[in-house]
This record gives sequence, structure tokens and C-alpha cells, in this order.
Amino acid sequence: MRMNHRLLSCAGRAISQHATIPRPRPDLTQLARGNIASISSPRSNTSSFKDCRHSSNTTTMAMNFGSDNWAGAHPTIAQSLVTHATGYAKPYSESELDAAVVERFKSVFEHDDLTVYFVATGTAANSLALNCLAKPGAVVFAHRESHVVVDECGAPEYLSGGQVRLAQVDGLNGKMDPAKLRTEVARYAAYDVHGGRPVAISVTNPTESGTVYSLEELNEISAIAKEYKLTLHMDGARFANALAHLAASPAEATWRRGVDILSFGATKNGCWCGEAVLFFNSSQQGRSEDFPYIRKRAAQLFSKSRFISAQLDAYLKDELWLQIAQHSNRLCKRLGEVFASAGVRLVQQPQANELFVILNQKHAAQLEAKEIVFLEWPTPSTVSIKPDEVVCRFVTSFATTDAQVEEVAAVLSFLGTPNGHI
Ligand SMILES: Cc1ncc(COP(=O)(O)O)c(C=O)c1O
Repeated sequence: MRMNHRLLSCAGRAISQHATIPRPRPDLTQLARGNIASISSPRSNTSSFKDCRHSSNTTTMAMNFGSDNWAGAHPTIAQSLVTHATGYAKPYSESELDAAVVERFKSVFEHDDLTVYFVATGTAANSLALNCLAKPGAVVFAHRESHVVVDECGAPEYLSGGQVRLAQVDGLNGKMDPAKLRTEVARYAAYDVHGGRPVAISVTNPTESGTVYSLEELNEISAIAKEYKLTLHMDGARFANALAHLAASPAEATWRRGVDILSFGATKNGCWCGEAVLFFNSSQQGRSEDFPYIRKRAAQLFSKSRFISAQLDAYLKDELWLQIAQHSNRLCKRLGEVFASAGVRLVQQPQANELFVILNQKHAAQLEAKEIVFLEWPTPSTVSIKPDEVVCRFVTSFATTDAQVEEVAAVLSFLGTPNGHI
């Protein structure tokens, strides 16, 4: 989750900061007639966003594209938490449910020797996974704009006791350019004690730019990892969204491509708080046997870990995780079409559930005034915008509905294109 520039720079936009404030559904027929008043409605009640989505006795609808983190928990996940809330279960990842979820992971990933550990956050998953590779002078290669580099406040370095250092690699659309990656790795590998020791490559799929590495691109990166005997880590905070785009099996998108360790995210895709670190290659790479100790020392071993398992159990069952991702990817693609047909430039075509568009600042403010929640985003180094433009991010989730996306279309058509009559 990035710093929310838009919210910080826009005092008084409390609506954007509180997804709990719903708004009455605009009358689209009024909108078509250009009646702006129909969408400027008072914030008259206090139902939550989740209520807006699931309650049958409300007509309110939030157009919240702030982040998939802003959505609550999917009803099936929430129900599983309730179901497992009674009775007794062994703590510290030793319950029957914990073991059952590990078996589910093995079956989903078609991998009998898979080692699975639960943690609470994506930052913990990434940092502790990389910590398993720590040794003096360790260097991990990641994209310049990746979450591990930009958004974890140095947690990978901190949690490895300063042993892991991140080397930044460039590339378009959030993806490491294989040629640049090779050059960087080779440079460090040829260096002596003054440079450090390459230990791993960390690839994020989907990327922070909403793009997805293809299987061929993963092969290219994996080949570099093999050549230099580096561990290949994947930050899969939105792994389900990558799979939904690739239409590949979990195994094909990971260990069959040479991925050794996966940070398997579930929180953003409908869980309340559930992430896992998966070791595909535990005997050779990444010291998975150290992970329980590293996790405990980082205070990420949950006593009531059954509540993470309860979420992941429902998440993996009946392919709920993939269904949710297909839903949010589909709506993100549609949202891209909506913006494009309104004359708005997309930074790139969305491939998962994050859409980045370039908005005129005035247009962005008008969308906000219509209580559409989204975030202003740092302009990627490879993108150029005009001084009065901003890059904005819109994210879809399990809670996003077709109607919400079409509502954005209606608002955009009422406002006109950026170069039109606004
Ligand atoms: C790609 C990616 N990795 C990791 C994380 C970290 O997740 P958390 O905020 O749970 O620490 C995020 C969160 O935004 C993310 O987008």
C-alpha cells in the first residue's frame, strides 16, 4: 500500500479516507439528462461499504477503487472465520485445520514436498522469505518500483539484520528488463568483497504497475537465476490475479518456471488477513528449515493460527480465490475500456486488477467530487506527463460490482472527456 498522495494533498476529502461513508445510488437517467445534483448527495447514513455491497435493504453504492485492501472480507471467508471461531484447536500452526490447509496448498500447486508457513502481512511474507537467504553481503535484485524496494520501509533489510541489500533493476511497465537484470547480476557477481554477493532475484507478479509477467518472461528471468545460482523469489501479493490473467496453473506459473519461494497473498483478494510463504525447493534453496525460527523472532507466529487457516481454507476451496480474481480482473479491464472511451490515457493496458490512468488534475478533482475513490500515484520513471496531469490508480476487488463500473462510465460521460467540455 503506497502513500496516499491524493488524500494527503487534499484536505477535507474525508469521503476518500473513509470507505465507510456510502452514498445514494445516482439516478443514471438523471445523469444522462445532465442533472449533476443527482450524484451530489448528502452523506446521510453510516452503513459500512461492506453493508453497501451485501445488505439487501439499502440502495447505497460506493464507487471505491482506492485499493483491494479497502474492501472487507469476502462473505465466504468471513463465514469460515465464524465457523472456526468456536471450540478448541492446537495453537501455533499445529491444528488439524492448519495441516489440512497445507495439504490443500500441496494439491493446488501439484507439489508434495511443498513447505508452507502462514504470516499476517505481505511485507512479512516478502521480508521473512528474503531473510531466509541472508548472509553477509547478500544482494537481492528487484525492480526499481517494486514493493520490496519502495514500499516496505526497509523491512527486508531490517529483518535480515542488515545482511540483505536490494539492488534495483529497471524495466518498462513494472517488469525487470532481462538484459538489464543480467547486466546488474553480472556486475555484482564479478565484483569482490566490496560489492557483495548476489543471492536472489525477487520478481513481483502481478507487478506494481498492474502488468503480469508472461510465462516466457518468467522463463527468461529464471534462466538468469539458474545461471548465477540465485534463488528466485516471487512476490505474489496478488498472485491469483496474475494466474487469472495467465490462465495458467499455479504450478506452471511458479515452480515449473523455476520459482523457489512464493509470497502467496490472499488478503487483497478477499481474505481478512492471510498470507503464506511457500517453499518449492526446500532442500536446495532458501533455508526453509530456518523459517519457523525467523518467523517467531519476527513475531509473526500466531498462537491462534487457525484463523489464518480458516481464511485460506475457504479461499482455496472450490477455487474461490481464482473466481474472485477473474471477477476483479474482468471489472478492471472494463474500467480501462470506460476510461479509454472517455478519452483518458491509460499508462498501460491493465492485465490484473489495477488500472493506472493519466488524468488532468481538474478532471481528477471532479471525479473525486463525485465521490469516486481512487489514489494519486507516483509517476513511473518511464512515463512522462504534463505539469497539470497526475497518474491515478483504480483497483477492483471482490466487492466491486458491474454497476459501480458502469456508474463511473456514466459520471465520465457526464463530465466529458479531458479535452472536452469540463
Ligand atoms: C505487490 C505487493 N507486495 C506486497 C505488499 C505488502 O502487503 P502488506 O501491506 O500486507 O504488508 C503489497 C501491498 O500493497 C503489494 O502491493
